Amino acid sequence: KVYQASTTAPVNIAVVKYWGKRDAKLNLPTNSSVSVTLSQADLRTHTTAACSSSFTEDTLLLNSSSQDVSGPRTQACFRELRSLRAALEESNPSLPKLSTLPLRIVSENNFPTAAGLASSAAGFAALVRAIANLYELPSSPTDLSRIARQGSGSACRSLFGGYVAWQMGWKADGSDSVAVEIAPASHWPTMRALILVVSAEKKGVSSTSGMQITVGTSGLFQRRAEIVVPKHMAEMEKAILEKDFQAFGKVTMMESNSFHATCLDTFPPIFYLNDVSRAAIRVVEDINREAGKIIAAYTFDAGPNAVIYYEEKDTEAVAGVLNGALGNLDGWQSRNIKAQSTSAL
Ligand code: DP6
Repeated sequence: KVYQASTTAPVNIAVVKYWGKRDAKLNLPTNSSVSVTLSQADLRTHTTAACSSSFTEDTLLLNSSSQDVSGPRTQACFRELRSLRAALEESNPSLPKLSTLPLRIVSENNFPTAAGLASSAAGFAALVRAIANLYELPSSPTDLSRIARQGSGSACRSLFGGYVAWQMGWKADGSDSVAVEIAPASHWPTMRALILVVSAEKKGVSSTSGMQITVGTSGLFQRRAEIVVPKHMAEMEKAILEKDFQAFGKVTMMESNSFHATCLDTFPPIFYLNDVSRAAIRVVEDINREAGKIIAAYTFDAGPNAVIYYEEKDTEAVAGVLNGALGNLDGWQSRNIKAQSTSAL
């Protein structure tokens, strides 16, 4: 007999950035962060988890290619979920003993890996929820975020749709380092995101190692974690609750700039932005100057691709102008994606 369950998880793009770990093993961050979840119609991972006594070992297939499951991150997720299932089986002996069976995980992204988007967030979120569904665990999204965090930090924010905060937490065991919903997507349904693919190449320095070098060498980093981010967290949550795009856009852009400044302040320096990224920043500045207020906001993660947030009513003034200004540049593709989750959790 094969037991199985499926789920999907969305991609999220941070507007207050996670950068720095206080515990690399448990993936505990040095600051809190906030993200906006993108529409699952456009970007999501679909995962089926199965278990059976006829399987010989744990396996993971991503877009039809076999992945190593022996790494500490995947192992941590498997271990945590199995121990929750084992506890359930112990308290209810009539349940089938799934916790001891080998797992077979099959994942597919509905976006090309060539889109250059970090897929680890949606990937680990979907993996954790698929297994939790298979095991029929009574866990809330916040409970599951604690497990997904150990797969990849940003994955904990993909357990919710809409506007999500990852509270850094203070405890050494990480039990209070979890994701919580600030507001559902329906709270601010006019939010849009445009993804400008500058380069589909794999990033030069991975986030995992990049943030470790930053923590070890950057003087700006400490100021960012202790002073800049707490201020931005408070301003961002208020901006989202009040649907204040001016404030949302300003903090989003300042956050991206602060994060990339600490990358430059890392030794040796880390450069994620390139000339095309900087051209996109200038076009967004032109758009906002023309409008006389902030109607577009850029943000960049650990790579040169831009994500531009704007409101639906400004589609022509933002997406239209960006496509016109940058559309002819070599290597540009742009996709208009609704920053809205369709997931029913
Ligand atoms: C710049 O979540 O990929 O996108 O926890 O080591 O897997 P690990 O790092 P990861 O880092 C994401 C960094 C970021 C900012 C963010 O998403 O908050």
